[in-house]
Formats: sequence, C-alpha cells, structure tokens
Amino acid sequence: IIQGYMHLLSERSTNDSEIAEIINVIANATKRGTGLVQQLLTLARKTQPQLQPTAVDAMLRELLRLLDQTFPKNIEVNLVSNNQLPLINVDLNQMTQALLNICINARDAMPNGGKLTFEAKVVDGQTVADDHETTAARYVCIAITDTGAGMDADTQNRIFEPFFTTKPIGQGTGLGLSVTYGIVKTHDGFVKVDSKPTEGTTFRIYLPAR
Ligand SMILES: Nc1ncnc2c1ncn2[C@@H]1O[C@H](COP(=O)(O)OP(=O)(O)OP(=O)(O)O)[C@@H](O)[C@H]1O
Ligand SMILES: [Mg+2]
Repeated sequence: IIQGYMHLLSERSTNDSEIAEIINVIANATKRGTGLVQQLLTLARKTQPQLQPTAVDAMLRELLRLLDQTFPKNIEVNLVSNNQLPLINVDLNQMTQALLNICINARDAMPNGGKLTFEAKVVDGQTVADDHETTAARYVCIAITDTGAGMDADTQNRIFEPFFTTKPIGQGTGLGLSVTYGIVKTHDGFVKVDSKPTEGTTFRIYLPAR
C-alpha cells in the first residue's frame, strides 16, 4: 500500500527535485522494510517445508541465472558440479532463500569484485559425523566460496546468531544467516563455515541425499 501511494506521489511531483529525492528515500526504506518482514516471517514460521525430490544441479543453475541477472558484473559466478548427484528433498523456495542469503553476504564481502564459486558433491555421513549429529548415510554438500573480506574467529563464532551483524545501521539486520541456519535445520541438514580474513569464505551446506 505504501509503495503504491509512493508511486502515485512520485508521478505527480517530478518537477520538484527535492520532493522527488525525499520520496526516493522513503521508497527505499519501505523496500528494505518489506524485505525485513519477509525474513522475519521465514524465521518465525516453524511450519514443515514442502519437500520435493530435487536435482541439485538444476537448482543451482536456476540460482546462478538469478545471480547473473542481479549481481554486479565484477563478480564472476561459477558452478563446479557433475550431473551424477543424488536427488535431495528440498522446499525450493526456502532453500533458494537460504542459498541467496549466503550469496548476498558474499557480494557484500566483495565490494571491488571477485569470484563466487559453487561446488556440489556427495559426502559420506561418516566423514562429517565428527562435529555434527548425522542422520543420513550420504549428504550432498553445496560449497559456496567467495574471494572477499573473510572473517576472524570471533565473527565466525557469532554469524548464525539472530541480529548479529558487522554492517552499518540500515545496511544489515543480522538475520540473513539465522534464516539460512533455520531453513537448513528443517531440512535435516547442517551448515559449516570456513574463513580467513582478507582471503575469503566458504559456506558448506550439507543436505541428506535420497
Ligand atoms: N561471505 C562473508 N564474508 C565476510 N563476512 C561475512 C560473510 N557472510 C557473513 N559475514 C558476516 O556475518 C555477519 C552476519 O551475516 P547475516 O547475513 O546473518 O547478517 P547481515 O548480512 O549483517 O544482515 P542481513 O543479512 O540481515 O542483511 C555479517 O554482518 C558479516 O559480518
Ligand atoms: Mg546477510
């Protein structure tokens, strides 16, 4: 509703640049608010996901298409994967949101450009059982690596906390990764992070193979 009226207002007062600027500021704030509410709804909604047998490759290619259209051109996006991966049970909307939140952070960590690489492979449940409770014999591991700013150990320890952010007020709410964590959790999976300041970051999402 606010966005609709804002649009009407902006059409009527294009001759006053100061008002146009103010409308622009309000419009942007509203857009951010909408995004925030959507994130909060995902976080609060503890409903079961609508799981569908899904080909990881197809899911990632679709995501890459989205990133190609929306990310700055100085970020090179690549996918390393074979087509032989087992299917996974995912709620496509939720999982896309979970992956997207990681990608947006990667973009923010590479203000001067860089590389974003996706890699998908199968791993034995046993090999990851050390530091996580594993429920499946095999997992599909989706690794997302950026060549951005990286994180120190203190930051890494807190990234999944709701409202933890290192971004300036108005730029980050600190909800992205807690949403990702929640979504992966409801898929019986888990997330690992590996990062070095100035070198970059890898997020690994493990999802049970069918
Ligand atoms: N790829 C990354 N490289 C460097 N730092 C990262 C990366 N991903 C996450 N972080 C750090 O983790 C923090 C928390 O991330 P999270 O996505 O939860 O919140 P946010 O990005 O700050 O805000 P929001 O996602 O709500 O807009 C970030 O503020 C940042 O410090
Ligand atoms: Mg974020």
